[in-house]
Amino acid sequence: MTIILGLESSCDDSAAALVTGDRRILAQAVVGQTQAHQPYGGVVPEIAARAHVEILPDLIRKVLDEAKLSIHEVDAVAATAGPGLIGGVMVALLAGQGLALAAGKPLVAINHLEGHALSPRLVDSDLGFPYLLLLVSGGHCQLLEVRGVGDYRRLATTIDDAAGEAFDKAAKLLGLDYPGGPAIEELAKGGDPQAVPLPRPLVGSNEPHFSFAGLKSAVQRAVASGDHKREDIAASFQQAVVDCLGDRTALALSNSDAPALVVAGGVAANNAIRSALADLARQQGRRFSVPPAWLCTDNAAMIAWAGAERFAAGLCDELDAPARARWPLDPEAEKVRGAGVKA
Ligand code: KG4
Ligand code: ZN
Repeated sequence: MTIILGLESSCDDSAAALVTGDRRILAQAVVGQTQAHQPYGGVVPEIAARAHVEILPDLIRKVLDEAKLSIHEVDAVAATAGPGLIGGVMVALLAGQGLALAAGKPLVAINHLEGHALSPRLVDSDLGFPYLLLLVSGGHCQLLEVRGVGDYRRLATTIDDAAGEAFDKAAKLLGLDYPGGPAIEELAKGGDPQAVPLPRPLVGSNEPHFSFAGLKSAVQRAVASGDHKREDIAASFQQAVVDCLGDRTALALSNSDAPALVVAGGVAANNAIRSALADLARQQGRRFSVPPAWLCTDNAAMIAWAGAERFAAGLCDELDAPARARWPLDPEAEKVRGAGVKA
């Protein structure tokens, strides 16, 4: 059975993992940098890149030790090659190139988004292609038709902020620490999701896309008014995001005959979002799949798994694979009106 070493450093998590082609996770390790970035309220690219240099080699050593394997027993090295913060991306990619070169193993350069997109198949062996994917992370909010390994068609994207970015910005307004998603989910537990009237941008629209900037501004006004409890703002904000994601996904499902709905990416760790989308899939007669929360947020098991899928399909890369700050999953997707870097 093939064994793949996966490496990840595209944002603020350093991670290494060993995964087999038959879905066994032999070892995995993730070290986040939350504390290093907390004083700045967001990820500082240069601090992140320097931290990856210090952390990643230890993690590679650790997973190999834990699995009692040497690099020579690995079949291929899969490293995230983008998209992400370029200084960080280069750390795992160069580590992967070095290991592949030294051990004479193939390199698989992984698109981080493909790692998220294929992650449900690591734990759900019955999930076949095609499926409709809601990919929600710190930098992306997209609906994609996943037709096969390396074959993605983007149906919708955000015209302004990503879903995770909206959580992070709302959290900052509420005086919560970065990353905002888990902090808002926790605070929302004590609040009333109907208490604060907030907009649901693009809900009901025939356009397929997402928008969250107006919601953020409304949170800003709700905080400034002093009329609401923080718990209520958090719960109402989370409910508004749930409604936006649900409505946009329902529209995509109505135009798709994909038998399954899948949600992945860091924001998919959110329980309110998970259960709303599970309900939607049930109503629409589709199979539903969502990875466990630890596999939704950044990790290297999903990178190793995407590597296993690409390796099995004969999709390995040359050692000069470039690091890419931007790397759309669907290169044919048209630029969306008003969309900035997240298109
Ligand atoms: O996939 P990910 O770990 O990194 C990127 O590739 O961006 O996603 C990180 C994002 C952050 O914006 C974080 O606030 C959000 O996922 N997130 C959550 C939750 N856990 C992480 N958002 C809502 N609820 C959560 N429980
Ligand atoms: Zn991610």
